[in-house]
Amino acid sequence: MSDKIDFNDRMLSLGLARVSEAAAIASADLIGRGDEKAADQAAVNAMRDQLNKLDISGFVVIGEGERDEAPMLYIGEEVGTGNGPGVDIALDPLEGTTLTAKDMPNALTVIAMGPRGSMLHAPDVYMEKLAIGPGYKTDVVTLDMSPRERILSLAKAKKCNSKDITVCVLDRPRHQTIIEDVRSTGAAIRLITDGDVAGVMHCAEPNTTGIDMYMGIGGAPEGVLAAAALKCMGGQIYGRLIFRNEDEKARAIKVGITNFDRIYSKDEMVTQDVIFAATGVTGGSLLPAIKREVGFITTETILMRSKTGSIRRMIYRNPTK
Ligand code: FBP
Repeated sequence: MSDKIDFNDRMLSLGLARVSEAAAIASADLIGRGDEKAADQAAVNAMRDQLNKLDISGFVVIGEGERDEAPMLYIGEEVGTGNGPGVDIALDPLEGTTLTAKDMPNALTVIAMGPRGSMLHAPDVYMEKLAIGPGYKTDVVTLDMSPRERILSLAKAKKCNSKDITVCVLDRPRHQTIIEDVRSTGAAIRLITDGDVAGVMHCAEPNTTGIDMYMGIGGAPEGVLAAAALKCMGGQIYGRLIFRNEDEKARAIKVGITNFDRIYSKDEMVTQDVIFAATGVTGGSLLPAIKREVGFITTETILMRSKTGSIRRMIYRNPTK
């Protein structure tokens, strides 16, 4: 008889929501206080404490950075009690540290879990990303198309005019050409200052968020987290790693990546069924902000399983001491 313990996504999902909630609650007192580092540290500590209570043999695939630069939740750290299935974990205890410090929309705590070997070990470099929501044929938009071609192709598939398409883009000087090309079609752009995991997730619920497509360059770790989210919500995401120097290429080689030009699809970034939880820290169109009242703190978490496509929204009211 094998002593291998299977990844029981159903049983583990509530535990995952608790991890995400704990990180959000820990950062609550730091919303709008101008201290990004303190907010991040509070979320990291709480996320790690909760993770270590779960009966898993967890391996952090996407974490706070490499071992020499992150004291906690570093890539390769083992978490959990060790009494449970071997799992891969991708996490960002506070996605949008600046958003939190400035009390701007869409800061989230984010975590995804899957069987061991299910997630791309993305180095901490940039990734060029392109995402759309569910209901479209594969490759209706591709990274090899120009931004303009993507808009025209998506508008045709959606049976609408380009002016009815809205694209979410990180507000960075490196995206100036993309922005001009998209606007030349008549399409609208929603610029965000940070937080492209939420940016990508917005595409999966276009009727609620008003966003049809995400494009541009952001963090590669956030790309894998976004792929895990879309694996549950539906939709497509493509990512190509961007290397600015030899050191960044060396980081990729260290995690086994040798084809530097490869385009990864959602199912290549996340190869098996996963569970995903995100809790709102500051409010946005996906999740409301943490609510503080005398004696209570309330959070909302989105908890999803790709195996069933189930999406729960969980409101948690926690007494404060
Ligand atoms: P932090 O939460 O670590 O500050 O990251 C926020 C973020 O906006 C990500 O969502 C995005 O992928 C990345 O930073 C973009 O990087 P840069 O700020 O270097 O353009």
